[in-house]
Amino acid sequence: MLTQTLPLRHVSEFAADIRESLTKSGQRELPSKYLYDEVGSALFETICVLPEYGLTRADARLLEKHAREIVRRLPSPVQVAELGSGSGKKTRWILEALSRRQKTFYYPIEISPSALAACEKELGQIDLVSVVGHEQPYLEGLRTVAEGRLHGNNLLVLFLGSTIGNFDRGAGEEFLRSVRAILHEGDALLLGTDLEKDIHQQLLAYDDPAGVTAAFNLNLLARINRELRGDFDLKCFRHEARWNAVERRIEMHLRSTCRQHVEIRDAGLRVTLDEDESIWTESSHKYRMGEAAEMGSRTGFRCEGLWVDEEWAFSQNLLIAE
Ligand code: AVJ
Repeated sequence: MLTQTLPLRHVSEFAADIRESLTKSGQRELPSKYLYDEVGSALFETICVLPEYGLTRADARLLEKHAREIVRRLPSPVQVAELGSGSGKKTRWILEALSRRQKTFYYPIEISPSALAACEKELGQIDLVSVVGHEQPYLEGLRTVAEGRLHGNNLLVLFLGSTIGNFDRGAGEEFLRSVRAILHEGDALLLGTDLEKDIHQQLLAYDDPAGVTAAFNLNLLARINRELRGDFDLKCFRHEARWNAVERRIEMHLRSTCRQHVEIRDAGLRVTLDEDESIWTESSHKYRMGEAAEMGSRTGFRCEGLWVDEEWAFSQNLLIAE
């Protein structure tokens, strides 16, 4: 519970974010966006093939099964931007369906350079699809894409994989409002949301028996060690997934198994963690049926389509800016 900040000349954004979140009074935190360095992105790709984590497969199944219908409901012509494309694998279905009717421009917006490179490689080879990656934060990237749109084109924004679930509910809605402010009337947003399901099943999805999610979570400390000269002893932390019933979200934490001192030299930070004290690293909010459409209608969209997977409760919501 003891925190000391040392004088610093230059503070990188990463270091500044770590300092701020780790020294919060009360619950310590680390921002989940830093989970995705090259190692973290590779571990996340592995999570997506775990039998316990059905989310990504459900997302992809819905896109594969309904791509033609989704595309039929879009304005034409349309250019595609994706927020947090990751490797972009499941986006193939949409791009292939679109490229049947038009030459398609696809702009993945992604802060992880390794994920962006994988995405450009994966999707750059589809006929009649041209891929231009933007290594930028979501809204900044979307603004760049929207400003450069070809005359007469609408935009389709993809926000898949329930990434919106990383935001607190209020912040998620605020984010949709910011997206809407960048869009024009008639532009589309395809929003994937993971739905509430059996609690045991949800917990297992974030605490798989092979320990891949634990490695994904712990890698955040390893990354801080590598990039900011930290000295976290990973053996003294345990991965934890918790269901927060009030907020309807899974929380990932890293629990300190003993009282320990940590120094992060490039963040000018010394922290003492108590035994059992946790660092909260991620939230994954779960949604009710119709909740995405409600959020959309409060932020300037109407719902033009809703598709739900039959195996794993997950929904695709096609929202149109009005
Ligand atoms: C990529 C943010 C949607 O919250 O389910 C997977 C990340 N974290 N397992 C999610 C994640 C732990 C994932 N998102």
